[in-house]
Amino acid sequence: MAQAQGLDVTPANKITPEKIREGIDVEINGRAFRHTGDPEMPLLWYLRDVLRLTGTKFSGEHGLGGADLVLVNNKLVAAVTVAVKTLQGKKVTTVEGLAAPDGKLHPLQQAFVDEDAIGCGYCTPGWLMASVDLLNRHPQPNDNDIDQLPNLCRCGCQTRVRRAIKRAAMAIAGGKA
Ligand code: FES
Repeated sequence: MAQAQGLDVTPANKITPEKIREGIDVEINGRAFRHTGDPEMPLLWYLRDVLRLTGTKFSGEHGLGGADLVLVNNKLVAAVTVAVKTLQGKKVTTVEGLAAPDGKLHPLQQAFVDEDAIGCGYCTPGWLMASVDLLNRHPQPNDNDIDQLPNLCRCGCQTRVRRAIKRAAMAIAGGKA
């Protein structure tokens, strides 16, 4: 029928089936997932479009604004720059994985709330992930350490973000978190 309509149809015996893709096993926020889709898919879109973990935001095609930062095996990376095929056996942490299982906020999340360091919120997940990484490297960061984070905020929250990161650092050091 398709030929009768002038469409070019490949006969069934001429079709080469696509090779069955192997699954890519990755742990995200402590849960195991197997990706069987396009192995070239950037992690950002796997998180947002497949898993519906929409906390991580698009931050330009190279991730330069910092809103798509996540941790892969505890290393800070821009999710848009990482293809899922590179994640076999790795552990990813996104902003959704920061709070405790009982819902208690991570000290950084709590400090961002307490310092009102959130404007529209678009940049906030990236700040939080970059700050987790920063406090892992510098438990008591100074202004210069914080200012070197790659994150941008169009709402002008940088000063309050600074205060929030220092507040979280103190809370963690004081065992209040
Ligand atoms: S809070 Fe709006 S971009 Fe940072």
